[in-house]
Amino acid sequence: MKRIALLLVAIAAVAGVVTFTARASGRADEDAVPIFGIKIPPGYRDWKLISVAHEEGNLNDLRAILGNDAAIMAYREGKLPFPDGTIIARLAWSYVPSEENNKVFGRRQSFVPGPQPDWYLQLMVKDSRKYAATGGWGFAQFDKSGKPADEAMLKTCFPCHEPVKARDFVFTHYAP
Ligand code: HEC
Repeated sequence: MKRIALLLVAIAAVAGVVTFTARASGRADEDAVPIFGIKIPPGYRDWKLISVAHEEGNLNDLRAILGNDAAIMAYREGKLPFPDGTIIARLAWSYVPSEENNKVFGRRQSFVPGPQPDWYLQLMVKDSRKYAATGGWGFAQFDKSGKPADEAMLKTCFPCHEPVKARDFVFTHYAP
């Protein structure tokens, strides 16, 4: 009797693990971009700053380029190509005047990050074997709700980064 009870507990435990795993991976699949299978890396918002940029025109945004430890180390040592495991993240915010700051200055001179634009997060992930067809980089883009970009959009990334092949397809220079 005791043995049967133990067996039932064991079965229940296994079933629980299977259910949990299925649920976890099901959700994870939804959050990964097509083609490259990249998800939003946990903790990316705390990564170190590589540089900043401001785009004019339709984008009219402010952006920060952040890197994980592998990215920062390679940048600081001037090492190219970037090692496998490197991740570079580009975060963007709309570029808006700060009325609050301008009141203090007495004129329009302060611009600050406003709300996130639709495609606020872009990633480049280095894995020279997995992503050999695209210069060793996997590309990913997510909207502000965390929804991944579609296949058509992700196919535009690598061709446009090809002009900087000599810098391992990365435009951004390290801002010391
Ligand atoms: C029209 C050309 C073009 C397309 C398409 C493009 N990029 Fe870029 N990307 C750039 C340029 C130029 C920069 C540097 C912009 C700056 O700093 O002002 C850049 C910067 C980046 C950066 C920061 C690292 C770096 O290379 O400077 C990431 C990450 C990035 N792009 C990812 C992507 C992803 C993901 C896609 C596809 C969804 C994509 N890009 C599509 C031109 C492009």
